[in-house]
Amino acid sequence: MIQNLFEQNLNRINTGSIKWDMTKEFFGVDDVLPMWIADMDFAAPQAVTDALIERTKHPIYGYTAPTSFAYNALIHWMKDKYDWNINRDSICFSAGVVSSLSTCIQAFTKPGDRIMVQSPVYTPFFDLVHKNKRELVNSPLYIENGQFRISFEDVEAKMRNGVKMFLLCSPHNPGGRIWTKDELKRLAELCIQYEVILLSDEIHCDLTLSGQKHYPVASLDERFSDLIITCMAPSKTFNIAGLQSSVIIVQNPEFKKKIKDTQSAQGFHGLNIFALEALAAAYTHGSPWLTELLKYVENNLNTSIQFFQKELPLIKPMSPQASYLLWLDCRDIGLIDKELQRVLLQKGKIALEPGSKYGPGGEGWMRMNIGCTHDVLLDGLNRMKKALS
Ligand SMILES: Cc1ncc(COP(=O)(O)O)c(C=O)c1O
Repeated sequence: MIQNLFEQNLNRINTGSIKWDMTKEFFGVDDVLPMWIADMDFAAPQAVTDALIERTKHPIYGYTAPTSFAYNALIHWMKDKYDWNINRDSICFSAGVVSSLSTCIQAFTKPGDRIMVQSPVYTPFFDLVHKNKRELVNSPLYIENGQFRISFEDVEAKMRNGVKMFLLCSPHNPGGRIWTKDELKRLAELCIQYEVILLSDEIHCDLTLSGQKHYPVASLDERFSDLIITCMAPSKTFNIAGLQSSVIIVQNPEFKKKIKDTQSAQGFHGLNIFALEALAAAYTHGSPWLTELLKYVENNLNTSIQFFQKELPLIKPMSPQASYLLWLDCRDIGLIDKELQRVLLQKGKIALEPGSKYGPGGEGWMRMNIGCTHDVLLDGLNRMKKALS
């Protein structure tokens, strides 16, 4: 029954959707199939919608504090999915992960401090460092056997020169890579050695594809919990980004105080009523929906990989271990990024994210969002074929 939910082609036009209603602003055209920004075209779990409707039955929406229901839902989710014991004291709520990253940058570093990222990576990692006037240190990822790898030698050499904070994307966007326990431990050990605060963005963690396991880096060793700050959210998992609900998990009490102080300096004093209701309902009741979603995404992924192999062999997708984003190696097409984008938009009528947005190493790649119905996916793939034939 849930499976059918993902087959519904819901019209999102004129719903204020950035993905569907703002292609003109972002791409200069408005008659294109949007397969770019990372939300899915699927209805959220029914339990989330029910919880929101239920809350509206009480017509007072005054100042709201997180209930035990919200705290416990999150605590149980972490225990159940990751065998990670967190307690209420380690939880800060935040309107979004990007906002949490910025808050932590402001709380733990000062202008001019060096912050390390690993390109190609989610664009705001660069923007937040620059806009907060910190110095960006890039330790680029490299590709081996079709997957991103970390050059630990490069990370260490750069940390030796003084780095204050490391922004980790785990699982990785755009590559969909799930870092192994060993990789995460090695990274965290380097952070301990060089006194670097590890800020781990794990927003895609619940979307692990079959046979894969995500480890919250902070859960791997008690010693890590002192210097790691973890950002998570139900937003990607349950497709509720518009409700702006996320959490920062921070086990070091001094760190927590700094985060709370910075949030209060920013004027943030809590999530809105519906964000909290949605978070609690999603983490309490959303697991069966998520299981079905992952099967659906996996099927879309297989369809896409087969399509590229058969119909568009010049495009080589990186096989993601998590999430619904497909990182496409388009370098063999031989077009520069702008030209590739133009052809896709004008001839194919399809909007994908240009890889160059993700920093060095992204040139010649595109990111495609396959969190859509199978029909829409086939439409998108055929549009790409038409554009490039
Ligand atoms: C790695 C990563 N972090 C953060 C976000 C956005 O988080 P939020 O909407 O909670 O600010 C995204 C969205 O695509 C993402 O991919």
